[in-house]
Amino acid sequence: MIEKYSIDQWIENSFTEKGYSPVSLDKLSEHDAMIAKKINNEIQRQKKYSHLCINTLNNAEIFYEKSIRVFSALIKIGKLNKEILTLEIFCKKTTQILSDELDFDNCSIMLKDERNEYLKVIAGCSKNENERQKTAKKTILKIGEGIAGMVAETGRYIFVPDVKNEPKFFEMDIGVKIGSLLSAPLVNENEIIGVINFSHLLPETFDTETIRLLILLSEYISQMITMNSMHNKLYEWQEILRAHKLESLGILAGGIAHDFNNILTAILGNISLVKMWINPSDKIYPRLDAVERASIRAIDLTQQLLTFSKGGAPVKKTTSVVELIKDSAEFALRGSNIKCEFNVDENILPVEADKGQLSQVIHNLVINAEQAMPDGGKIIISVNNIKIKKHESLRIPEGMYVMISIRDSGTGIPKELLDKIFDPYFTTKHKGTGLGLAIAYSIIKNHSGFITVDSEYGKGSVFNIYLPASDTESIDEETSEDKLYKGKGRVLVMDDEEMVRETIRDMLVDLGYEVEFAIEGLEAIKKYKEAKLSDKPYDIIIMDLTVPGGVGGKDAIKEILEFDPSAKAIVSSGYSNDPVMANYQTYGFLGVITKPYEFKKLSKELYKVMNIK
Ligand SMILES: Nc1ncnc2c1ncn2[C@@H]1O[C@H](COP(=O)(O)OP(=O)(O)O)[C@@H](O)[C@H]1O
Ligand SMILES: [Mg+2]
Repeated sequence: MIEKYSIDQWIENSFTEKGYSPVSLDKLSEHDAMIAKKINNEIQRQKKYSHLCINTLNNAEIFYEKSIRVFSALIKIGKLNKEILTLEIFCKKTTQILSDELDFDNCSIMLKDERNEYLKVIAGCSKNENERQKTAKKTILKIGEGIAGMVAETGRYIFVPDVKNEPKFFEMDIGVKIGSLLSAPLVNENEIIGVINFSHLLPETFDTETIRLLILLSEYISQMITMNSMHNKLYEWQEILRAHKLESLGILAGGIAHDFNNILTAILGNISLVKMWINPSDKIYPRLDAVERASIRAIDLTQQLLTFSKGGAPVKKTTSVVELIKDSAEFALRGSNIKCEFNVDENILPVEADKGQLSQVIHNLVINAEQAMPDGGKIIISVNNIKIKKHESLRIPEGMYVMISIRDSGTGIPKELLDKIFDPYFTTKHKGTGLGLAIAYSIIKNHSGFITVDSEYGKGSVFNIYLPASDTESIDEETSEDKLYKGKGRVLVMDDEEMVRETIRDMLVDLGYEVEFAIEGLEAIKKYKEAKLSDKPYDIIIMDLTVPGGVGGKDAIKEILEFDPSAKAIVSSGYSNDPVMANYQTYGFLGVITKPYEFKKLSKELYKVMNIK
């Protein structure tokens, strides 16, 4: 670098280029010699001055290069706060950036404990990989102990040009070989939160400019660390707030949706009966179809609301999600001019999922994507296995996940709304319910998963779902036969809703069964016992899980089984998510059926249980 500005060479060159050659002074007249001497003195003075300039220039260039690297480090560290990282990972990444960009042999961050007694190395990074391992060991220093301890005590930086001459220094400071060291305090609003150390293996390797830069840099890093903690707190609060909002919605929704579901059970059950009785060419048929479709939509909505209520736990099975995603997405886009493209990794891991709930999530997200693209476009759905490493992000604990991304090129979401879109009832749509994302969020949370969003206003959005991969290899298969199973026998149905009783009576009679009713558990127990002792016992009982103000199916079956261990019972509920529904066998039931009853499913479940020996 010095050569670039070598003034001696330059002056000599310019003389020789112009044809001048050195002349001895005693060959000149006295007058000329005097002038030549003056010129010579002036040249020497200029040379000296130029040397000084060159040095300054060179130093400036070195300083400039260093500043650029500091800048680059600043930008990289600043970007870290775009993600929600744990404090440890944030510091680890920061020290990595610093030692890479600024060429230190070691860089480490130590933070004070809550009681202000100790300093702990939270992250360290060395150029040498082996050294890196060593720094990873947790090192604890008392405040006041060693160089870093002193910095933490006084809040003033300490520069040690050569550790051999510094009695306060001891090797344990950051656990690696050190020749020279700069230790600077990390301060947030007058409170010392920790210390950052920069070191080289060799002594005397810091210059004043670097020290100045590093002190500025440590102020910046203090701010970034504070910001990271604030982000993390904010994120936790947001999660708590969201959970509260969903909980209160659940209480409200549970009550209404339960009744609603019963009413719809009656409507839909009757429609499917009538449809079986009349000829499809009848002019009422298409009308009935329309009523059925509308009722199914209403049921969809009540089912969605029920996922919030207290029985919100999903009924999980080991599932392969790929087909489910494709089916739900295509189903959601029926009749739409928007198409879906799928990018699916090979060998997607199975997950523990409630198929119904998961397809609801995909449905909600795909519908949103479609609605965000009124001028057309394409939805890209990708499914990948991904590994989340330990402590990488606060949001997602380590492990293998199946990540489902749903990307659109629609309107996008303004930054200031990103935090609100998962709130129940938040909508920007004229006819929106604002429940789609709240439900998706709640379902994914109940699957121990995570949902994140990334969006650029005007460009589009991508929603990412992370579901923990299952440890189990085998997939619980379901066969979906579409057959009506007729049967014979006496059925006792317990349900408190008259409409439901009427519907199921017609369905069962149509299938070939004889039906009697009980309104709540005690009546069911009494009727069952009486019938058993008579010559007309019941072959099977269908019991509603919850009876407001009465004895429900769960308690009734206990008593019935005590009386007759061979009793066969099916549990039924609108709460497809109730834990009893998921583990019906542990409660003594042999079958399970969700309301509203689908004719074919009901027939099949009855047939199955009736034929259990
Ligand atoms: N893919 C998307 N593109 C743009 N905005 C979206 C997208 N998904 C959701 N949003 C925004 O989030 C809001 C809430 O969505 P959601 O909970 O599904 O309720 P709704 O669709 O009934 O409005 C929407 O009103 C919309 O402003
Ligand atoms: Mg929606």
